[in-house]
Amino acid sequence: MNTDIQIHKPVPYDVSGIQIATFRKTSDIKSTIKGLVAGKPVLVTAYYSDGLLLLNEVKKHLKKKLPTKTFQEQRAYRAAYHQLSNLILVKIEGHQLSLKKSPSIGWLEKLYPEMDSFVLSFPKVQGLNSAWQWYQNGISVPVLRNKIHPYYGTYFPTRFDHLILFDNWLKRYEGPKKSAIDVGIGSGVLSLQMIKHGFQSVYGTDTNPNAIVGLKESMGDTKLSRKITLDYGSLFGAITHQTELIVFNPPWLPKAHDLDKNDEAIYYPKNLFSDFFKAATDRLVPDGKLAIVFSNMAQITNLTEGHPIEKELAQGGRFQLEKCLKKSVKQASDKTKRIQDWRSSEEVELWILTKK
Ligand SMILES: C[S@@+](CC[C@H](N)C(=O)[O-])C[C@H]1O[C@@H](n2cnc3c(N)ncnc32)[C@H](O)[C@@H]1O
Repeated sequence: MNTDIQIHKPVPYDVSGIQIATFRKTSDIKSTIKGLVAGKPVLVTAYYSDGLLLLNEVKKHLKKKLPTKTFQEQRAYRAAYHQLSNLILVKIEGHQLSLKKSPSIGWLEKLYPEMDSFVLSFPKVQGLNSAWQWYQNGISVPVLRNKIHPYYGTYFPTRFDHLILFDNWLKRYEGPKKSAIDVGIGSGVLSLQMIKHGFQSVYGTDTNPNAIVGLKESMGDTKLSRKITLDYGSLFGAITHQTELIVFNPPWLPKAHDLDKNDEAIYYPKNLFSDFFKAATDRLVPDGKLAIVFSNMAQITNLTEGHPIEKELAQGGRFQLEKCLKKSVKQASDKTKRIQDWRSSEEVELWILTKK
């Protein structure tokens, strides 16, 4: 495995040589916001809650200034909020936030072992804080016995219908279980399911270094670490051998030319599927199976008319359909109205393909 992996983490704010105003509850809000609008950073100095207060004031200020009715307006609002809020800074000393009544965030030590004193923006601290809660408390996944503890910056499932679909298919799978490949392993859920169902070894790849580093850390020296081999790389990475089963839960939405949307776990670039299918033919034994988890989300939200798996089946000449299992997604208790319009028809899909 590539041992020289650089993980993603929030970049410290470079404060050298800049004069920074400070903020606490008693400071003048108007002049603080004026400074932020002028592009000047401000350091929160007393309580963590002062930072939350200032963020709230930034929101109030922007709501008064900017309309948020249309999609474009909402995007402009988010961009303005992003810009101003990231000028609100917090100092970290001895791997702790130097604010009273702050949450204790273990990532500050884990991700910055050699940096004792530095500055981060408040929204980045908030992101680190919620990621620490997920990591520490873990997430119960209905198809797994143990909770998963997603590493900072790694994709993890928040809905489970697709995992249930895959689990039901694995229960009935009667082929050999010597080895499998999990492309885009994320926090490892699909690999753990395969191990649970008797696969002896799984090779997992990911282009996100945090996924690889996180799984390596969580497996440590356990029995699991001898069953799951990790490789930091795109698609099949350094894997050249053939297996009986290749699984892939790819990003479900086509990448638009949109700066908001650069999350590799969610948005797929133009050639991802054709590159995947091409490489998969060489990595699958003659009667092996390809199991791809997908969703109709892009189609029902009109992001695309095409379906990358249907396209492969129609035009690729490499694979044929064994079966496609579908499951309608349970209504999540989502607060976003925008999502609920289409969610009633959302389905997750499990595509099982074999080589032609
Ligand atoms: C939707 S997530 C699924 C993660 C995990 N397999 C699961 O089911 O929870 C997609 C994963 O694929 C990874 N990924 C995206 N493009 C990739 C590529 N070209 N090669 C390998 N992994 C990729 C992402 O970083 C992400 O971890």
